[in-house]
Amino acid sequence: MPASQNSSAKSELHNALTECARRQRRNRLADYRPYPKQKDFHAAGAEHRERLLMAANQVGKTFCGGAEAAMHLTGRYPDWWRGRRFEKPVRAWAGSVTGEVTRDTVQRMLVGDPRNRAAWGEGLIPGDTLGRISMRSGIKDAIDGVLVRHESGGVSSLGFKTYEAGREKWQGETLDFVWFDEECPMDIYMEGLTRTNASEGIVYMTFTPIFGMSDVVHTFLESEKEGQSSNARERPEDRPFPNGK
Ligand SMILES: Nc1ncnc2c1ncn2[C@@H]1O[C@H](COP(=O)(O)OP(=O)(O)OP(=O)(O)O)[C@@H](O)[C@H]1O
Ligand SMILES: [Mg+2]
Repeated sequence: MPASQNSSAKSELHNALTECARRQRRNRLADYRPYPKQKDFHAAGAEHRERLLMAANQVGKTFCGGAEAAMHLTGRYPDWWRGRRFEKPVRAWAGSVTGEVTRDTVQRMLVGDPRNRAAWGEGLIPGDTLGRISMRSGIKDAIDGVLVRHESGGVSSLGFKTYEAGREKWQGETLDFVWFDEECPMDIYMEGLTRTNASEGIVYMTFTPIFGMSDVVHTFLESEKEGQSSNARERPEDRPFPNGK
């Protein structure tokens, strides 16, 4: 092969590989493979409106919560999915303690690195479904809400919320699901639950307990005994990365 053809073939191959890697980065949801406790947590959503994934640090709580959120927002459920299904576009909120924390955890997981806008679309919400993004004022690179294309052809919406804003900011809308990443105060939890009552929606929480036996934890443990909620507590044998990796 003449040298010029050889170099053009190499460059085509390079471009194809680069494009392939880019598509993979923008479709991380397709690669999500839950470990058993994450899978049980998802599956419990088919029967329970309220769920808690309480586990140690860095074992994949936010990842698991983010993947489930991305599935409901897009309607892209994998073959192994046994949890709750929404066949139509959803309205949802996801939140954490402060604006900064929400940006650096929930937003990062769902949308991509907050500080690198070129990477928005490389989170768990597939890049090809990510629509209009509205920014929050007062916190650099923090997103207020995103629109997401749903498989049905409609559009889902996700708002990012914070506990520090107080219960009032959790009022107002009817929602299909609410995801609390990190433990929230009881009044905010109840407000989030109320948002989903009319739609028979779901609420789920993912956290490492730092407040001990708080009201929220206590309520879950009690209602779990009565079979009304699911608390997918971690057992040591479920840890996917026993060495913290
Ligand atoms: N099922 C999985 N497959 C592959 N990687 C996973 C899986 N679950 C978690 N991880 C990886 O584990 C790491 C920690 O995940 P994540 O941030 O969700 O943990 P966390 O429990 O929320 O941590 P923290 O206690 O800091 O809130 C991430 O790098 C994530 O990619
Ligand atoms: Mg986390």
